[in-house]
Amino acid sequence: MSLFEAAKFVRENAHAPYSNFHVGAALRSASGAVFSGCNVENAAYPEGTCAEAGAIAAMVAAGETQIMEILIMADADQPVTPCGGCRQKISEFADKDVVVIIASPTAEQFRTTIGEMLPGSFGLDHLSKVKS
Ligand code: THU
Repeated sequence: MSLFEAAKFVRENAHAPYSNFHVGAALRSASGAVFSGCNVENAAYPEGTCAEAGAIAAMVAAGETQIMEILIMADADQPVTPCGGCRQKISEFADKDVVVIIASPTAEQFRTTIGEMLPGSFGLDHLSKVKS
């Protein structure tokens, strides 16, 4: 299944009764498998989770840790890019040149990379001097 199709399918299951803003995310991992997730809101608003977080959790639960490509789909007046927290979450599992595809339910809108979306990101390398 393409990332576009997977994101479109999972977005139908978004639980977004508070924002009514439905998001789907789909990623391809190193094995070639596709994992997807939707946003899951909560009456206690800060407990809600983004679509990207769901897709990443599904990948990690399946025993994989490398994102090769990720697509985010929403429906708004302008292309919807990942929030700051999701950029950080993606960068944990993706090389800087990993392609991030932004799409609406009807078309791919543009492509960028996680390195372009989150330059100078904090990562594992910054923890290298931490002693246990
Ligand atoms: N949302 C995502 O799922 N991913 C993003 O990158 C941006 C925002 C969700 C969170 C919330 O449920 C809704 O969109 C409105 O912010």
